[in-house]
Amino acid sequence: MKKRRKRKKKIKLIIVVIIIVIVVLGFLYLNYEPLKLKYIGYTDNEIKIIFDKLGDNEIKKVLSSKYLENLVLVINDERYDYNKFDEYITMIEDGKTLDEIYYVEKENNDVIIEQEDNDVETKFKTAKYYIDANIDRYLNYLNENPNKNIDEVIRCVNSNIDYEFYTNVTATDMTEGHLILVNKYTKLDKNYIPNLVTMSNVYSYGNMQMEKTAYEYFKKMVDSAKDDGIKLYNISSYRSYDTQNYLYNNYVNSDGKKAADTFSARAGYSEHQTGLATDINTANSSDHFENTKEYKWLINNSYKYGFILRYPQGKEYITGYKFEPWHYRYVGLEVAKYIKEHNITFEEYHAYFIKNK
Ligand code: DAL
Ligand code: ZN
Repeated sequence: MKKRRKRKKKIKLIIVVIIIVIVVLGFLYLNYEPLKLKYIGYTDNEIKIIFDKLGDNEIKKVLSSKYLENLVLVINDERYDYNKFDEYITMIEDGKTLDEIYYVEKENNDVIIEQEDNDVETKFKTAKYYIDANIDRYLNYLNENPNKNIDEVIRCVNSNIDYEFYTNVTATDMTEGHLILVNKYTKLDKNYIPNLVTMSNVYSYGNMQMEKTAYEYFKKMVDSAKDDGIKLYNISSYRSYDTQNYLYNNYVNSDGKKAADTFSARAGYSEHQTGLATDINTANSSDHFENTKEYKWLINNSYKYGFILRYPQGKEYITGYKFEPWHYRYVGLEVAKYIKEHNITFEEYHAYFIKNK
């Protein structure tokens, strides 16, 4: 009797254990994701793609939703962007077709790209020294130099730095008077000779000539410096096309063309041919004129006589020449003051205020 009860108990226990095992296994089985997807309505092939393409979070979202007919088409498309999964789900739920989803997608992208372009354009258009005719070049230059900021891009393009030196060369506009530009992109006529006067040896070494108005102001500057105990004199002002040609070729022969181009202008491209430039006291880097009291005086005062430091330190990439602490260019009182106060090169000033007029 006791034995039979014991057996019965044992059988009951086994049945309970079997039921528990069945329940647990059933629970685990029903929570098995592929099965759940199958239960929702996805085919084996669709389930395989879902697991291939989606992460855990996305799969959870699919599991909590009803069967989405276009889901697999969308996630299996090469245009699929996993960052936009939620947007796709909403569109699929709204009954959008694959084409509609990716068409809208494309439209949105175009709008965004257009918006970004507009933003950059607006930045250019509101920047100082913006020149409307240069907008395409600004955008191209920025594209090629993404590390440069808007102002730098404008500074470079206005100064033609997006072109190689000595390319895209145009003739200097001689109607600009004392504000004519001569540099590696603007060239003087071989036969151009300015209105010259011979300089007194009080103001100049040797038998030099200078443009008439520039000389008047040069004299005032030298006299004023003298009153301050500073001795200034011109060592090179006007140089003809032929003289420049001779000098440049000598430098090419001694230093090579590449080096020569960093400190000597090719014939026709030298400011010295305008008669508006003057090399003061020296024209030699090894003299370190920048460390003298004469240089300090010129930096602080030359603008009061209409002269600017034409090839400043740090602006070599714009002017195309090494720092020349001795080379000053007459541009007139107003312009010299503006350039000094705004710390810009003549290239930048000319592009914006003269050529752009
Ligand atoms: N040294 C200056 C750039 C010239 O040759 O004109
Ligand atoms: Zn010079």
